[in-house]
Amino acid sequence: MGGSFNPVHIGHLIIADAVLSNLDYDRVIYVPAFVSPFKPDMDAEDPQDRLDMLVSSVAGDPRLTVDDCELRREGVSYTIDTVSDIIRRYCPDGKPGIIIGDDLASDFMQWYKSAEILEKTDVIIAQRLYSIGMDMPLLPFPHKTLDNEIMDISSSMVRDRITRGKSWRYLVPAGARFVIEDKRLYRSLSGGLEQPERMKKNERKTSAFLSHIVYMENEVRTLVSPSRFLHSRNTALLCYDLCVHYGFDPMKGYLAGIVHDICKSFSEEELFRLAEKDGAEIPKIERKKTSLLHARAGAALLKERYHIQDEDVLEAVRWHTVGGKSMGPLAKIVFMADKIEVSRPEVKPYLRELCARPSVSLDELFTTVLDETVVFLRAKEQDISEGTLRLLDSMSRKSHK
Ligand SMILES: [Fe+2]
Ligand SMILES: [Fe+2]
Repeated sequence: MGGSFNPVHIGHLIIADAVLSNLDYDRVIYVPAFVSPFKPDMDAEDPQDRLDMLVSSVAGDPRLTVDDCELRREGVSYTIDTVSDIIRRYCPDGKPGIIIGDDLASDFMQWYKSAEILEKTDVIIAQRLYSIGMDMPLLPFPHKTLDNEIMDISSSMVRDRITRGKSWRYLVPAGARFVIEDKRLYRSLSGGLEQPERMKKNERKTSAFLSHIVYMENEVRTLVSPSRFLHSRNTALLCYDLCVHYGFDPMKGYLAGIVHDICKSFSEEELFRLAEKDGAEIPKIERKKTSLLHARAGAALLKERYHIQDEDVLEAVRWHTVGGKSMGPLAKIVFMADKIEVSRPEVKPYLRELCARPSVSLDELFTTVLDETVVFLRAKEQDISEGTLRLLDSMSRKSHK
């Protein structure tokens, strides 16, 4: 399937999926054109960017792949050359197909060496917007017709929406979205799409970091119960908001929030094994109430299995249950978000209101939440860790100075 893919959008993936599901093929190869012969005047994005968007969009689906032969060849590529090259290198088991849109089908016989293309491939005609309300002319060559959903999406429409600051993010696959955001593609120089002010303050994240967050979020989803996952997501969102509010990196806050309970469903044995990895002793309260260990164990797991090195994130996960005296701002934010996120029914409304008040400092908010947590645990006659009480004591003294 050739095209300019400027950018790739979900319509392209839907066509490939229809070919793989409805016809007898095992794989679809996307071949981005160096310069599309049908759009010679197109204001094409850098070929490497178009390739990058495509490659990141097929990740995780072994039925799809991308071949950059036309980009390497440069200049205008004739379809027959690409077809011959692909057949030579991929050695398909049977006659390959070539997917073309019905908007191009009626001119197919005028393509360079079209008879040879027909000899080497089966032409598959995908329905595109063009065919809505139109009778397809009878085609004078053998072909297969694809019964695909017709999406009201085109690359030029996506580009235009990005430039004009309209919504576009879910018209393209997630991988392409990360690349577009990362490289700020298709934005007009006059600033048609400006980032919200609060995002500008924070360092822009690379697509690798964003995909890492998506990966971790999916990992957490498979490791905890659906309701725990919802709690993790709500915690992550509140961490994000609090980081924006207090001027810290919001995506790092989101990551720490989403992973903070990653070990919540682990067995006691596994929790001890992981918690002991940090070399510190396991205090009496954590031996007695082993569920508290999921915080320490979580930090160890994130380091060991997921190679997360960011000390702020590890520390935030490490201290989110009992708290600790060396907690940095992110650790305080995760601790609070975990206790007062929207799905916890017992939270006093004033705490959530405090979060939204710009005049309240991070330490004031933290002390209040910590205090309420202790009150809550006492009311439920639950043991409170020495460390938590010492922390509350030192925070209260600090705020009364
Ligand atoms: Fe937790
Ligand atoms: Fe939690």
